[in-house]
Amino acid sequence: MIDEKAYREALDELLRDPELQKMKQYYQHGGNTYAHSVQVAEAALKLARILPFHVKEKDLARGAMLHDFYLYGTNDMTFTAYQHGTRHPRISYENASRHFDLTDTEKDIILSHMWPLTFTRPPRCRESVVVTLADKYCATREYRQHFTRLIKNRFFHRQ
Ligand SMILES: [Fe+2]
Ligand SMILES: [Fe+2]
Repeated sequence: MIDEKAYREALDELLRDPELQKMKQYYQHGGNTYAHSVQVAEAALKLARILPFHVKEKDLARGAMLHDFYLYGTNDMTFTAYQHGTRHPRISYENASRHFDLTDTEKDIILSHMWPLTFTRPPRCRESVVVTLADKYCATREYRQHFTRLIKNRFFHRQ
């Protein structure tokens, strides 16, 4: 259950923030972090619509949009994919808390969104469960699209 108007208002307000726009510069899953986070925010809304319980609209929208606020490209990092997977929730939280006034729920969404990879940091509230599911769904879809494009270009591209 979700008040969609409240969700959209919170999301739109955050999307206007210049700090958030920085995510457009950083490569991820064949696209950029901003586009991925918008997709996660949309998937989280779809999921929240069918849930039998209420979620906090503003926290869900902001947590979904800030969950990957780590501000580097995954094609341009100095550590391994595994290290990225386990470290970027904390980096995203530290970046986000520097620029935004985060609630406890928003903090939990960001820090736990990679669970179960970060097995010691499971989601502690329902909004975090929604975002971790939405994120996995979107990341899988983005990887599939990216690799399909690569295969098509490699094997079927004609000059
Ligand atoms: Fe992430
Ligand atoms: Fe993500």
